[in-house]
Formats: sequence, C-alpha cells, structure tokens
Amino acid sequence: MNNTEQVLLDVRGLSIDIINEAGPQRVVHNLDFRLERGRTLGIVGESGSGKSMTASAIMGILPDVAVADGEVFYKGNDLLQVTPAQRRKLSGPELGFIFQEPMSALHPTMSIGEQMVRPMRLHLGLSKSEAQSRAQELLDLVGIPAQRGVMGSYVHQLSGGMRQRVMIAMSISCEPALLLADEPTTALDATIQKQILDLLMRLRDDLGLSLILISHDLGLVAKYTDDVVVLLDGYEMEAGTTADVIACPRSGYTRGLLEAAPRLGQRLDRLPVINKSEFTKAVAK
Ligand SMILES: Nc1ncnc2c1ncn2[C@@H]1O[C@H](COP(=O)(O)OP(=O)(O)OP(=O)(O)O)[C@@H](O)[C@H]1O
Ligand SMILES: [Mg+2]
Repeated sequence: MNNTEQVLLDVRGLSIDIINEAGPQRVVHNLDFRLERGRTLGIVGESGSGKSMTASAIMGILPDVAVADGEVFYKGNDLLQVTPAQRRKLSGPELGFIFQEPMSALHPTMSIGEQMVRPMRLHLGLSKSEAQSRAQELLDLVGIPAQRGVMGSYVHQLSGGMRQRVMIAMSISCEPALLLADEPTTALDATIQKQILDLLMRLRDDLGLSLILISHDLGLVAKYTDDVVVLLDGYEMEAGTTADVIACPRSGYTRGLLEAAPRLGQRLDRLPVINKSEFTKAVAK
C-alpha cells in the first residue's frame, strides 16, 4: 500500500468561522492533520479550543452559524463539498460518531431498539427482525446483555455509562471505516471511563476501525492514541506521533500540558507558566 492509500482522512487548511451580528469570528484556524488507516488519532485541547467544531465539520453537522473553509478529504472526496444526499450515505457505513453528550444525540421518546434498528434497515438493507437481532448482538458486544431489557428502554432510564455504551453500539452498527469519538468518557467516573475506553480500543482492533479520539486530557490521549494534534484557541500547536510529541514536545504549550498531567511521569524542572497568547500568536498566520 502506498502512502496515499494509507491516508483515510486528510484535513488541509481547515478553518471555521462563527457568523454573528458583529461579523465572522474565527474559532478554528488553518488546521492540517491526517489519519492513516488502522491508527488512532487524538485531538487534544482545553475547553473552547475547537475540538467539537473540528469534529462537526468532519461529520457534516456544523451548526447553522458556522462556516468551514479548507479541505477534508475522506477516501479522496472532500467532505466539505459533498451534497446532503451523499452525506447521508456516508453517515453510518463510512463515518461513525460518538457524541460528547449522548443525551442530546439519542432520541428522547423513541426506544433504544427502535433507534438502533432504523439506520441498519436503511444502510444495510436488513429486515426488521434481522436488524433487531443485530441490535442486541451489538449491545452484547458493548457489555449490555439482553436480560437488561435495554432495547425496550428510553434514554432517560439509563445511567451515563449505559448511555455511552448504547451510543458506541449505535455508532458502529453500520460498520464505519472511521469512528470519531468526541470526549466519549468525560461525564463518567474513572472506573467506567477506563471500561469504555478499553471497549473502544477492543472494537477498533476487532473491527479494524480507524479512530479519532477527542479529549481535553493529554494523559488519556497519550495512553490510547498513535498520533496527536494539540489545539489551543483554535490553533494547531503541534501534530505528530504521540510518542514523539510526549517525548519531545516542540510547543511550549504542550510542555505545559504535560507538566499538568503528572501521571505521565513527565515532570520537568520548572512549573508551567502557560501564557496562551504567546503560543497562539506564534502560529497565527
Ligand atoms: N453553536 C455555537 N454557536 C456559536 N459559537 C460556538 C458554538 N459552538 C461552539 N462555539 C464556539 O466555538 C469555539 C470552539 O468550541 P468547541 O465546542 O469546538 O470547543 P471544544 O474544544 O469542543 O470545547 P469543550 O472541551 O468544552 O467541548 C468556542 O469559542 C465556542 O464558544
Ligand atoms: Mg467539545
């Protein structure tokens, strides 16, 4: 396989503006990064750094007030240029998305089973009963056995951990080539967080997924990803293999983040003094 075939997602010069009364406000600045097949890419940054906006641009679900510029090539097609009909075909069988807030992504008055069955009938052409049995198989896969009766439940009846497992089951139901998980475990306690991340990694390996894992936690990204992009206020501070970035960060901002993540054992001599504007000015073009 040559290098072009290995690259599944190629983001080039992605910028995103929010349009408000005062005019456009740029929240994502000229990002460049790529995801190779079978690898896991982390996008890390503080709250408001543009992680979800970037994810939404890739998934084609930017809010109406946002406009994206640049190119997002997926298997050679620019996702920023596809029609709504092409996008519907991609969502599910090609691109899976685990939302930051499962409560807002899952339908409040439709049972979990109904929500799971629908896309599988549409994209995989399964009959209702085939889709139902596959839905339960998927729930089994994410650790929810049939006895729990989750197929007939509604989202408000489930715990946070269960909702996230259901989201994962739904996101992989049409066997996407690329799965994008936006802060999949932020709202969960540490034990459940580890279970969910280990589950995602197992599914990645078993199903041969390529994965983008978004998090504000560099320690978590360091543990679970092959490559990483570091964002600050919508600017790309650095990108590279996770091992290189952790061992030898080029950006002072990343060094500060590493110092703030003591469990990585990356203590430096000085305590971090993170003057963010110093770093964003340095990369602003
Ligand atoms: N629907 C929206 N309308 C207007 N501005 C928005 C909207 N969503 C996000 N923004 C702005 O875009 C910028 C980037 O937000 P984004 O949600 O991408 O950050 P994030 O890195 O995902 O943060 P978090 O870690 O809190 O999820 C922020 O300045 C935010 O205020
Ligand atoms: Mg976010």
